[in-house]
Amino acid sequence: MSHLTLVSNRLPIRINEEGEVERTTGGLASALAGAGIPGSFTWIGWGGVNEEDIEDREDYEKKLKAVGVKPVILETDEFDAYYEGYSNSTLWPMLHYMKDRARFDPEWMEGYRGVNQKFAEVVAKEADQDGEVWIHDYHLMLVPKMLRKLRPDLKIGFFLHTPWPSSEIIRALPERNEILEGLLGCDVIGFHTYNYLRHFRSCLLRILGIEGESEGLWHGDRMVRMGVYPIGHNSIGFQEAMQSDTYREALALHKKRLDGGKLILSVERLDYTKGVPEKLDAIREFLKKNPEQRSQVNFVIIAVPSRVGVEEYNLLAETVQREVGAINGDYGEVGHSPVQFLHRGFPMEELAAFYALAEVCMVTPIIDGMNLVAKEYIDCKRKKYDARAGVLILSEFAGAAQEMSHSLLINPHDTQGVVKAMEQALAMSEDEMWSRVRAMQDRLARNDAGAWARHFLGDLDASGTPEHDPAAH
Ligand code: G6P
Repeated sequence: MSHLTLVSNRLPIRINEEGEVERTTGGLASALAGAGIPGSFTWIGWGGVNEEDIEDREDYEKKLKAVGVKPVILETDEFDAYYEGYSNSTLWPMLHYMKDRARFDPEWMEGYRGVNQKFAEVVAKEADQDGEVWIHDYHLMLVPKMLRKLRPDLKIGFFLHTPWPSSEIIRALPERNEILEGLLGCDVIGFHTYNYLRHFRSCLLRILGIEGESEGLWHGDRMVRMGVYPIGHNSIGFQEAMQSDTYREALALHKKRLDGGKLILSVERLDYTKGVPEKLDAIREFLKKNPEQRSQVNFVIIAVPSRVGVEEYNLLAETVQREVGAINGDYGEVGHSPVQFLHRGFPMEELAAFYALAEVCMVTPIIDGMNLVAKEYIDCKRKKYDARAGVLILSEFAGAAQEMSHSLLINPHDTQGVVKAMEQALAMSEDEMWSRVRAMQDRLARNDAGAWARHFLGDLDASGTPEHDPAAH
């Protein structure tokens, strides 16, 4: 198999303030890092700092090269237009059905185009002859077409980690044709769920007038294949984390702090798609309806700061902090606040301890491509690591809901429904919790991040254009 090139906006590692290479946590990077991709590969992406902030470029590139990583170095202006602008203020809300939050600025698209071209050029230079390239996520949707022009010998795959919405949404995007054409530069395009794939096909038909066949579609003289590849979590990483001293210490510490109280956990990036205000509405209602529980429950909300350069995210952080304070003001007691808001990230070992202890985990996004927290929580429910029984409350609008039918599925807009699920979860017997957990663990074990990567890369490897008569299509 030829050398593989992975391409994503964010690299899985960064250089910290002490000048050392360290792993970035969470999301795509962590799932990919845990995918155990076979063979050697180069990872190309943005390293979390811009040109103006890199003191010694040569040294920076050398340190990353030593760990198989090639950075795409951007200037702050182009980064702002590409990442904060088009990627996260236009595409991100649109892909999540939040058209009203999307802002449009032609200069952002120019930045996005320019940075995608820069990525394509770096990949074109790095990739092996006849090699395979796997591009990730909405930041880089123009790269496939640009790269194919530069390097027609490559096999190019793309995976979208967000939802792909209905064509009614995509039609509102001024640059919809260019984006779709960009993706059609691929040999294989992957989505988390069948619904996302179905919407993508209907966009191709309604916007570009291209109709697919069951195995893919003909674009010019090439076959573009499309498939469903639900991503799994980093199972091996969490198993290892649960064998660490840090895990044991965190488990003991939090157990002591909880002092017999119940832990109802949430873990998410602080993003408006994650439904945190709606979850707080449900928590408020729960506390109002269940006064006897107020001193018993600990709603621990781990909200990792995200995209702090984008205005919506800062407004959200203020709203959430205000409401948490208000709920605690109304329902807290001396020595106990029912809602504990931790506005920071935690290393995997400590997260695993939170997952192991929580009687309930609330994953309640308004919409989410997949959501790996749901999978991580269930996977960490292991008696051999002293985990307690627990139950998952899961939004039916997360991609993960399609695979996790033994959770308590909720609609995050239905406050009373969420409260009912919380009551049901807290009243559930341990036996029932364990039997639900086990039913989901079997499936998760078969479909972890490694299985996902092997599935996609196997299809990319097998892709290619069969003999055909283009005139027939
Ligand atoms: C989502 C996206 C990823 C992204 C992650 C974190 O999961 O699909 O591509 O890396 O959020 O967001 P950030 O903007 O910090 O990379």
